[in-house]
Amino acid sequence: MYLTREEEEMLNGDDETISRCMEILIAAGEANEAERLVKVKSAHISGVSFDNIGEGGLEWLESLRGRVIIPATLNPAGMDLNRWREMGIDDEFYNNQIRVLRVFENLGVDISLSCTPYYLNPPEFGDHLAWAESNAIVYANSIIGARTNRECGPTAIAAALTGRIPYYGLHIKENRAPSITVKVSGNIAAAGYLIGRELKDHIPLIIFDRNVSEAELKLFGAAIAATGNTAMFHAKDITPEWKDFEIPSETIEIHGSLESACDPDLITVGCPHTSKEELETILKLMDGRMAKKEFWVFTSRKVSAENPEIVRKLEALGVKVLNDTCMVVSPATDRFRCVMVNSGKAFHYLTLKRSVEVSFGDLKECVEAAVKP
Ligand code: F3S
Repeated sequence: MYLTREEEEMLNGDDETISRCMEILIAAGEANEAERLVKVKSAHISGVSFDNIGEGGLEWLESLRGRVIIPATLNPAGMDLNRWREMGIDDEFYNNQIRVLRVFENLGVDISLSCTPYYLNPPEFGDHLAWAESNAIVYANSIIGARTNRECGPTAIAAALTGRIPYYGLHIKENRAPSITVKVSGNIAAAGYLIGRELKDHIPLIIFDRNVSEAELKLFGAAIAATGNTAMFHAKDITPEWKDFEIPSETIEIHGSLESACDPDLITVGCPHTSKEELETILKLMDGRMAKKEFWVFTSRKVSAENPEIVRKLEALGVKVLNDTCMVVSPATDRFRCVMVNSGKAFHYLTLKRSVEVSFGDLKECVEAAVKP
């Protein structure tokens, strides 16, 4: 792979962390036949919950030195940093999670602890990024028109410390063309779940049968990236690049619906983390009624801090608005029997990863389940 003089110096210089980062980037680039590296505007780092990375991952992180040279944000941790006891997290997990966060703090990473970096530091059309959170990757590529491959924790960290990522895949315009047209009806998040499973790594051009909101597009993208390897989609008349390519002639139809398998004792919303608009919608749907079951809404501490009045009103109705974490990456979910979600991604990973049964409904159905005695 071609390296500039500056990149050669980073690889062969005295800074051991930078040299190791360059080795990671070169190995990833060569595996994907990248001819060179490209400078990136920001990095988003996954692999933050101690539940995901364990002692081995933590030791690797603690071996890193230095400071990031581009804006770098962080995915959710395994607990709300303030309300971890209330979530049922034990002292040992708390202490390990804090060790993880200390590493990132020392590296100069923004301890944003959210999977929606596009609400915190929105990229612009055409920006090259090194993002490692599949829903954020799909959102950046599809809805904003920025460019990132599906990075992993180590490559995103290497990018944050060097400002570069291998140039291949979705960084190159012609690789962003759709290969199949999909007509979508029914529940959008469930449709994303089914499309990801069906199409694996194809980029689809989606034709929705009705107007869809930004929140639905976010749920859709998260779901296709969870069950498949897709890192972007186009949506006719919606996303910024759909007109740049020919409409694929091969067409399939998907109707989104998922089974509700159990009666929930925990209802969770916020996969991906909720926006201000979604918090407002939940408050409206609650319509002054108290939650009768555990109802957890996940968001970023930034969105919470910017909307204290909405959060206060939801909490007064018995809804727990939790920051920094989510139902999938926190071990707190394990103590429940049946968890209800409105997210195709959460439906997929809770089934795979946590020892709970999972029930599915749209946002309105989740709220109704929460207020039902
Ligand atoms: Fe975010 Fe957790 Fe879902 S990290 S996209 S809320 S699985």
